[in-house]
Amino acid sequence: MSSSTIDLDDTKSLDSLYTETINIGGRVYQQLALDRGLGFTPIDEDERERLDQQHMILQKAFDQRLIFPPIENPQNILDCGYGSAAWVCEVAERYPQCEVIGVDISPHMKPDEIPPNLWLQVDDLNEPFTFASNQFDLVHSQLVVTGIKKDRWRSYIRDCVRVTKPGGWLQFVEWYTNVQSDNGSMGDDHALRQLSGLYLRALDDTRDIRVPMKLGTMMREAGLVEVDSQMIQLPANGWPSTEREREIGNMNNVLYKEGLGAQCNYLLHEYLNMDMPEIHVLVAKARQDLDNLALKPYIGLYVAIGRKPNS
Ligand SMILES: C[S@@+](CC[C@H](N)C(=O)[O-])C[C@H]1O[C@@H](n2cnc3c(N)ncnc32)[C@H](O)[C@@H]1O
Repeated sequence: MSSSTIDLDDTKSLDSLYTETINIGGRVYQQLALDRGLGFTPIDEDERERLDQQHMILQKAFDQRLIFPPIENPQNILDCGYGSAAWVCEVAERYPQCEVIGVDISPHMKPDEIPPNLWLQVDDLNEPFTFASNQFDLVHSQLVVTGIKKDRWRSYIRDCVRVTKPGGWLQFVEWYTNVQSDNGSMGDDHALRQLSGLYLRALDDTRDIRVPMKLGTMMREAGLVEVDSQMIQLPANGWPSTEREREIGNMNNVLYKEGLGAQCNYLLHEYLNMDMPEIHVLVAKARQDLDNLALKPYIGLYVAIGRKPNS
């Protein structure tokens, strides 16, 4: 992870290489991410708001906990793929004595004002980290599965471990983007299942979408101890019986339906050569499935933590 790894052509400054955007179908995308196949979702104001709201939903699902490992007084924290910087800003505000660094390939969605103990950097997490070893109490990585290349995951986790202090922690959060049904009633004839299948097919060559389920194993393989990995069912509409879960489901439903087009339009059009009208019809039908309480749809949210041994 270093600016020296970026190929600059003669006409572009480093800044414009990262900041250059392109309008497609009324949404703004980062040119670099599209060119390098690093990302395929917009980086505009709508996406920033969506990420902020997603953070609120996750915080509700996590009972307002930002950090899961037992870290008393963190001095240095790294956030990989900060997005709209919602998590990393809250962490920096909660721990004003802590130096917090966020890294993202896209600088477009960060807020205009950030806490004074937070530094946001632009870089590609697929490149080897250039941070010094043993410097962070916590390395946090959340919802970057579609941005990390398939064959990078093991070295990505090793890099995160290397820069963590002995005794420090990794906290990884990822979801399995293929929506599940709690009662198994979603079949191949449902548009939501079809859309999930196409999404996976478009990414299968370059991404490991099943990484969320393997995070615990990969952390152990990277030498971490006290590894704890859990799956939380994030309801995708108001089907659950408890009020708390129903509220999360209803919030998630609105956000998921809103984000569906942004997640799929560019990807299915460019990677699978599907026509836009065909994609729009499928997305509209998938939205109807997301409203179907009888399907009991949910997204598997995987949280894994692990500690770097003291020696
Ligand atoms: C879905 S957002 C999640 C943002 C934030 N972690 C959160 O939970 O709200 C994914 C973010 O990771 C960034 N990202 C994805 N792949 C990346 C890569 N290879 N290098 C740096 N940032 C990356 C994207 O630019 C985007 O801002």
